Amino acid sequence: MSHQGIISSPETFIVKPYSPRFTVDFRSPAASSDLNNLRQNFDFRSFNETSSPDILAKLGGDALVSLGITDNVADFASSLHTYTGLEGIDAQLQNCLDRLNIYTKPSSRGHAIELLLAHTNCLASDRHHPVRMYCHAPGEITQLESGATHYGYVADDGCVVREASRVVPVTRNTFFSIHGEAQVVGDARCIVFTHFDYAGITHYGGEVEEWGRLNYIDGCTDTLLTPPLRRGDPCLNALYFPAGIKQTQHTHPSIRCGMVIEGSGICKTPSGDFPLECGDVFFLPPETYHSFHTHEARQKDTKSALTVIAFHPDSDFGPTDEDHPMLNRTFFKFLHRIRSAERGLNVAPMRPMAADSEIRQSEIQPADVPDMALASHAPAFPAKADQAVRIPLPENAK
Ligand SMILES: [Fe+2]
Repeated sequence: MSHQGIISSPETFIVKPYSPRFTVDFRSPAASSDLNNLRQNFDFRSFNETSSPDILAKLGGDALVSLGITDNVADFASSLHTYTGLEGIDAQLQNCLDRLNIYTKPSSRGHAIELLLAHTNCLASDRHHPVRMYCHAPGEITQLESGATHYGYVADDGCVVREASRVVPVTRNTFFSIHGEAQVVGDARCIVFTHFDYAGITHYGGEVEEWGRLNYIDGCTDTLLTPPLRRGDPCLNALYFPAGIKQTQHTHPSIRCGMVIEGSGICKTPSGDFPLECGDVFFLPPETYHSFHTHEARQKDTKSALTVIAFHPDSDFGPTDEDHPMLNRTFFKFLHRIRSAERGLNVAPMRPMAADSEIRQSEIQPADVPDMALASHAPAFPAKADQAVRIPLPENAK
């Protein structure tokens, strides 16, 4: 693999048109930034000098802003109130510590805030994930290393993946994950996100759909193309933005990188506004404020005005040894059916009790789920036998 056009450990948002061999190498941690230094050495002594709840709430808000956690001083107090439902900072802090299973008895209010910020990862950088983003050069061979997992998106026809014992055609608008050594060969654009510290599994996906299956912020949707195998594992996503979106400014604790596969828009960051065009590739360092915006008028008659493939090197979602579909749906006591229902997985149709025949459907739906989440986003793509086509293998891949 040639690495012409390498950017190593970037500290700001990068976007550029797909360019053969373009590489973002994030294997080494970025140099410790001023923000990281502040987070690791934040001085909480000022909190201990006040006993006024209002002043303490203000100091907490100032701290979150200076630590780069939020850009709104009022967010500290409002978040505590929303999370706990309680009034008064003492009750709120104690409730948070209890619910987060923090058993250390705080010596002061300031210490309580310090414990809360430490346990919510506000005082340290998130774990580093060694990652590389690489643009396959059409007509060349991209060698994928052993000991890593490679996630890919294929933008055109005319490519194959060569593994040790087979050759797999990969057609346009499809995705894959490959554990271990392989080669990408052929004339297509193919972006590969390699996680060097993770052993995934190899599988090949179908076409990326036209609209997402999960709600995301601000009216956007998302589909987990390659879900985490275990909680915390990497994932590959398709992210969809309707026309006229002004996404709320936000950050992520780990990198995000990907490719614009449909439509166009703008990414707004503190370092400027960056046009996003179909075919662009992007890389977002951890904890970088950003928001994706779309134009009011759609370019095409599609639900999504901007669709991007987004790789995440980690997650806070996925099955665990104690919580996974095989185990959760294995019943040998009534107790297990109760626990399954508690998880919200009772798929049996709700049957109103005789005395409750007036119950409307809206009253038996989950209270906190937005309307859109109850609708099926699964698009219908009926397969037609006469649409099947044979993709010719590149000459050097046979
Ligand atoms: Fe984001």
